[in-house]
Amino acid sequence: MMKKNWKTLMLTGTMILGMGLFTAGCGSSTTSSTTNSAEKEYVVGTDASYAPFEAMNSEKIEGFDIDVLSAAAEAGGFKVTFKNTPWDGIFLTLKNGERDIVASAVTITDERKKEFDFSDPYFDATQMIVSKKGKEFKTLNDLKDKKIAVQNATTGDEVVSKLLGQDNPNIKRFENMPLALLELKNGGVDAAVGDNGVVLEYVKSNGNGDFVTAVDSGFATENYGFALKKGNTELQKKLNDGIKKIKDSGKLDEINKKYGFKK
Ligand code: ARG
Repeated sequence: MMKKNWKTLMLTGTMILGMGLFTAGCGSSTTSSTTNSAEKEYVVGTDASYAPFEAMNSEKIEGFDIDVLSAAAEAGGFKVTFKNTPWDGIFLTLKNGERDIVASAVTITDERKKEFDFSDPYFDATQMIVSKKGKEFKTLNDLKDKKIAVQNATTGDEVVSKLLGQDNPNIKRFENMPLALLELKNGGVDAAVGDNGVVLEYVKSNGNGDFVTAVDSGFATENYGFALKKGNTELQKKLNDGIKKIKDSGKLDEINKKYGFKK
């Protein structure tokens, strides 16, 4: 009897509490949905292990891409929030709606354009070979029978795969660029191939003298763009509008100077 009463009491209590929460929930969701739609924040995925484009700096994501997209958003009148997102699978987050934008030094390629939309380009890059002093490799041809580290599923991976063959065991693929460069440092590979800006930043902060960098004359110019879910023309327009504005205002130049990309 005692027990049953207790249970009933608990049950009633829970129900009242539940209803209270439900009501409170309703109230707050109404208010917050009004504010949300007024200032919708686009969620941006970025693999923040790619200095100087995106890197973690005491819990905060910082870098060139962050500055460019933040400035474009401000100029274009929309809000963005950045979420550290591993490169492997980063594009899937656009498909499943976890992210609205991928801002991660992404090269606009024909292959990717089949599945995703892109903003207008905001930066030019190229692949770069980095090897160790005294055991240096300066052209793609020099690398034919060498062990090479790349970040998995990047344009660097593509360039090396074309040369050596996709399944060549001499290609060592890493989930992020710091791991690929560490492998070179540790002597596990003869060279690494990756985006010039990131390679140069690494060499600068890891003892300039120990590494040699080179750009093969066959390496194409790559354009970085912000990637979007295919068909998201509304956001694409906003992005392009913002990018155009910061190009015209000189803001993009200013950011380029801040990172030493322009004088
Ligand atoms: N630009 C190269 C590509 O698009 C590498 C980008 C890697 N970005 C990163 N944050 N890890 O394939």
